[in-house]
Formats: sequence, C-alpha cells, structure tokens
Amino acid sequence: MSDPIDLAAFPDNFRWGTATSAYQIEGAVDEDGRSPSIWDTFSHTPGKIDGDDNGDTACDHYHRWRDDLGLMRQLGVDMYRLSVAWPRVMPGGDGPVNPKGLAFYDELTDALLEAGITPSVTLYHWDLPQVLQDRGGWPERDTAEHFAAYASAVAERLGDRVTHWATLNEPLCSAWIGHLEGKMAPGWTDLTAAVRASYHLLLGHGLATQAIRAAAPDAEIGIVTNLSTVHAATDSPEDVAAAHRQDGHVNRWWLDPVHGRGFPADMVEVYGVELPEKPGDLETIATPLDWLGLNYYMPAHVADDPDGPAPYARSVRREGVPRTGMDWEIDASGIETLLLRLTEEYGARSIYVTENGSSFPDRVGPDGTVDDPERRAYLESHLAACASAVAKGAPLAGYFAWSLMDNFEWAYGYDKRFGLFHVDYATQARTIKASGRRYAEIIDTHRKLGRRAA
Ligand code: IFM
Repeated sequence: MSDPIDLAAFPDNFRWGTATSAYQIEGAVDEDGRSPSIWDTFSHTPGKIDGDDNGDTACDHYHRWRDDLGLMRQLGVDMYRLSVAWPRVMPGGDGPVNPKGLAFYDELTDALLEAGITPSVTLYHWDLPQVLQDRGGWPERDTAEHFAAYASAVAERLGDRVTHWATLNEPLCSAWIGHLEGKMAPGWTDLTAAVRASYHLLLGHGLATQAIRAAAPDAEIGIVTNLSTVHAATDSPEDVAAAHRQDGHVNRWWLDPVHGRGFPADMVEVYGVELPEKPGDLETIATPLDWLGLNYYMPAHVADDPDGPAPYARSVRREGVPRTGMDWEIDASGIETLLLRLTEEYGARSIYVTENGSSFPDRVGPDGTVDDPERRAYLESHLAACASAVAKGAPLAGYFAWSLMDNFEWAYGYDKRFGLFHVDYATQARTIKASGRRYAEIIDTHRKLGRRAA
C-alpha cells in the first residue's frame, strides 16, 4: 500500500529528528553545581503550574540519558534536538563555567555521534539563570551580552563536534507569554518589560550567532521561531486589522528584524514602547544565518479587542473543528502555508521544522501498548503538508517531531503528553506509542526510497 505522505518529495538527504528541552526532561535541578533558573522559581510558586508540578525530577534524563539514546535509535532518527541548560553550564549567569555542567553535554554529544545521530543544540529554551533575573532579566541589555558569553563558552567546548546550533527557542514565549501574559516564567504582565525583553532576546540571538561563528566557523546556525497562520474571525475591517496586528505580534515582530528589515513600524506604534536601540543593534540582530527553524502547532483565529492587552486581538474559539488535548485547533495546511511564506516572503534558503506535535491523554493499555491514533493522524497530516510545501519549492531540510518523550509541559505540568514515547513518572518507564512506531516506519521508508534511487 502506498504511503499517504508523498515521501518521495523529501530529498534523499532530508534529516529526520526528534526534540526535547533541558528543563522539560533533565530533572537533577540541584546536582553538580546547577543553579536555579527562572523556571525553578516559577514552578515552585504555588498556583502557577497545573497540579503544582515542577521540573525537579521531570524524566530524570540527567541520569537516564544513555537509555534515552536507545529510544532515539529505536526511532531511527538522524538528528536529536536538545537544549543546553544555561544554569548548569554557567551557574552564576555570567562568569566561570561549571566543568561538571559542560561535561554532561560533552558526554552526550560524543554518545550521540557514536550512535550516528547528529546533535542539534539549542542554547536557550527559556531557563534563564535566576541570578540574572534578579539583576533585571531580559528587559536589561546586559542579559543579551551574558547570553553571548555563555554561547561562546558552550561553542568553544562542543564546537569541534556539534555543527548544528540554534540560539533561541521561541523568543515569542519568553517575551510575550513570560512578560506580557504572565503565564510563563518570570510571570510578568508589563508591556514595556515585554517589548524590551523581545528586543534584548533578539539582540542576544545576534550576539550569540557571532560568538558561535567565532568559536566554530563551520557551524550551521539558526533561530527557532514559533509561527502561526492568522485568520480574521470575520471579514469586518476591524477583525481584519486585528488579524494583521496579531500577525505582527506573533510572526513579523520576530522574522522581520532577523531578516534585516528592522522591527515592523506598525507594531512599534501598536506597542507604543520606545525600543532600547543603540547604533549597530539592527545589524547585529540581522547577522546572517544558515537556517531558520519553524515550530508549528496550530492556527490562530482572532477578532478585534480594543479594550484588551496589546496587540488588541482576542482568540476566537471555532466550534466543530478537530482539536488536540491542549484544545489547540488542528490545521495541517498551516504548516505548508508558513513554509511557503518563509520561502517566498523571507527568501529562506534552508528551513527546519524544529518542532511539530500534539498532546493527547495517552494511557498504557492492559497489554502494555500505547495506542494514540489521533497523534498518528496529526503526524501524518502535517508531514503530508510538509511534503506538499517541498514539492512547491520550500527548502525544507529536516523535521523534528515534538517530542521524543512525554515531559514537563510548562504551565500545564505533566498532564499534557506530547511524546512519541509514553513516560510513567512513578517508575520512569518509557513505552513507545503507536505514533512512535509509525514515525520510525516513515523514516525507514523514506531512507529505503533514497537507497533504491541510488
Ligand atoms: O513543550 C513545548 C516546547 O517547550 C516549546 N514549543 C511548544 C511545545 C508544546 O507546547
């Protein structure tokens, strides 16, 4: 039977991967010199996380990483996207490196390479050292400079073996959800701080790109953005204008500066906050990249919200459409639209889908298996949409399924499960889900196509 995904559309050297992040899986939060991050503080603040969960133990990956490497082998992935925990490597935020912290990632890198899996290292997946938050955090310029120093230390140590780097993961979440909506660490609701944080995150990205390049000249460097297709709830001029603002908020604010277009003027006006710009910053932010990361989960439907917070657009929940366990609408066409937009509007030369996946309330059945037909369908429909984008010219170089295993889903705690492997948090047993088997089959089928053609 032919595969519902046009796997032949993906180039032979297409890279199949899976992704995780440090705070979501590592645990061991006070071992070997790691200092607290803003997520330790936030998750230990009562009422911030569903079930008052925290990342203290998470998937205990810090101790079980060798076994977890076995899970990746089971999937047959070419690449593994992990993040380095800044508070593990540089517990003081700036200043001396913690040798034990770096040694963890050093050993993991070697083991991955030995297993034939290329590491893709993200330097910041939201775990700012709390000491830097205490000094003002991302709203302060110093944080961007400290980030570059940390990036340099990691690249100097791993850059002889790690070739694939991302600076930031989803800066939108750090800035908007962390500083404007207050639903993520550090939990602020302050527009000025949020805009300043967004600016310094992007400045830090540019400085870190230069630092990695200096330490590892052959590195392939990118940034990971979470983008959405944005639809107006109605065709009223107000809702259409709200959709344009929302697009500015979630898409253009992040893409334009990195592509040398500066911050979108309409959004600067919407926010009404003076940017903390210094001469040369925009050039730094636009330091050339080798690839662009797209995290895609869902579309957005919005209506005008003149009395709400910036950008004055509120989400409209559409009835009668399929949704994941996060209550996120499922729309696979969105990933194709965004891949083509990055190609046509931003001239992307190489794109990775750095995250894509879905949460459903999985259970291990009496026979010990985990059947997750909805996740499998989500995976297939989104890969089919990626194949279609590639056929239309999108330079998609790889796809990372989110996530290797169930993990700490931030403010939602452990209840939301995105993994291709189920994790029983009481025993730390990992069980492959049916979607994980299907992903392994897809990878294998695609590889065989390449071999046949060769
Ligand atoms: O779990 C997160 C990840 O850390 C960042 N991107 C979205 C995922 C699902 O919410």
